[in-house]
Amino acid sequence: MKDFVFQNPTRIHFGRNAMESLSGEVARYGKRVLLVYGGGSIKRIGVYDAVMAQLQAAQAQVWELSGVQPNPRLSLVYQGITICHEQNIELVLAVGGGSAIDTAKAIANGACYDGDVWDLFEGKGSNTAVLPLGVVLTLPAAGSEMSNSSVITREEDMCKRGRSTPFNFPAFSILNPEYSFSLPPFQTACGIVDIMAHMMERYFTMVEHVELTDRLIEGALKTVINNAPIVMEKPDDYDARAEITWAGALAHNTLLDTGRIGDWASHKLEHELSALYDIAHGAGLAVVFPAWMKFVLPRGGAKKLAQFAIRVFDVPETFGTEGAIAAEGIRRLETFYRSLGLVTTLHEMDIDQSRIPEMAERAVRMMGGKLGGFVPLDEAMAQEIYRLAL
Ligand code: NZQ
Ligand code: ZN
Repeated sequence: MKDFVFQNPTRIHFGRNAMESLSGEVARYGKRVLLVYGGGSIKRIGVYDAVMAQLQAAQAQVWELSGVQPNPRLSLVYQGITICHEQNIELVLAVGGGSAIDTAKAIANGACYDGDVWDLFEGKGSNTAVLPLGVVLTLPAAGSEMSNSSVITREEDMCKRGRSTPFNFPAFSILNPEYSFSLPPFQTACGIVDIMAHMMERYFTMVEHVELTDRLIEGALKTVINNAPIVMEKPDDYDARAEITWAGALAHNTLLDTGRIGDWASHKLEHELSALYDIAHGAGLAVVFPAWMKFVLPRGGAKKLAQFAIRVFDVPETFGTEGAIAAEGIRRLETFYRSLGLVTTLHEMDIDQSRIPEMAERAVRMMGGKLGGFVPLDEAMAQEIYRLAL
């Protein structure tokens, strides 16, 4: 087990009555609030009205920044920073999924940085302060409600970049599983895939003697797998939604990183796909992750993949060789993704091989020439994974 420092400062209010805590939370930080949200789902499901009632109770003055798109764009971040400066905003409040939250995070950081906020994403600058950030979550998926990352796309070259910093941890997050009842099946499925991917990126490590975190991840994965068919069948099943909502936050809140080094190649390869083709992040992961597994299996990955197959997908230890057990685990993962209504090949997303070299080059360059902690990938290997996904 590696040495580590663990601190997650985000205060979680979880459950049916979690929204009641919002006015008190807002009052801790000030009265000038920038509300950041997406294309309108929060109005359709009544969350907008509930938030406004709480803000009113806190006697807050509210500026609204709506129109956050999935795969959120830099231009809206600039708009938010301008509002923060002009209106002396004291709290940035995101209401929605990962895209609204990541936009709010970039605004909260950028408002405290003198240069171009994109510098922060390129590692060319750093901020020493951040505006307080609050979250009301409506889509369990990205884990941004409790994570230290923010992922933004710069439109001019469709460059999608993530930035991890302790400044990205929200001060508080309101998690009411009922808000996810209204999700279309596709978004529910994409969320499930992303949550599992955050667990699996950490699971596939070459660090030894990490039994506690291995077992935590396996238990969390099994919980999501068990509850997934329930929410796909019955979207308003509170208990199943609650399991998935809490799993989504724990998947990415850095607890499961402790003592180990994750992989993250699948995420980087997927970010190139969603940058160029504007697909949903979870849908892209359902294609990339199995391909990555197939690639690493014969390159030192068999042992851990076999453990995953046995402990997470119940492949019998007597199934065959280590490699055969591992391959069966990958097959069961693909079958699971398909049971959620998702596809597992690029071809089925109408994506061909034409931009594979470009995506592989960008993904590997962004990571300084080697991609992934489990099996480090160069550009040719990254290309091969995209081809395995075709
Ligand atoms: O825009 P609105 O109208 O709100 O609709 C959204 C959007 O169209 C809709 N939606 C959200 N909650 C809903 C709802 N529809 C009905 N009922 C509800 N309760 O869902 C659509 C997708 O929303 P989005 O926020 O884009 O999805 P998600 O939460 O999956 O976030 C994806 C983004 O997060 C990034 C991804 O790359 C992607 O850009 N990630 C962020 C991470 C982080 N910050 O830690 C980590 C992840 O690995 C990921 O990369
Ligand atoms: Zn993700």
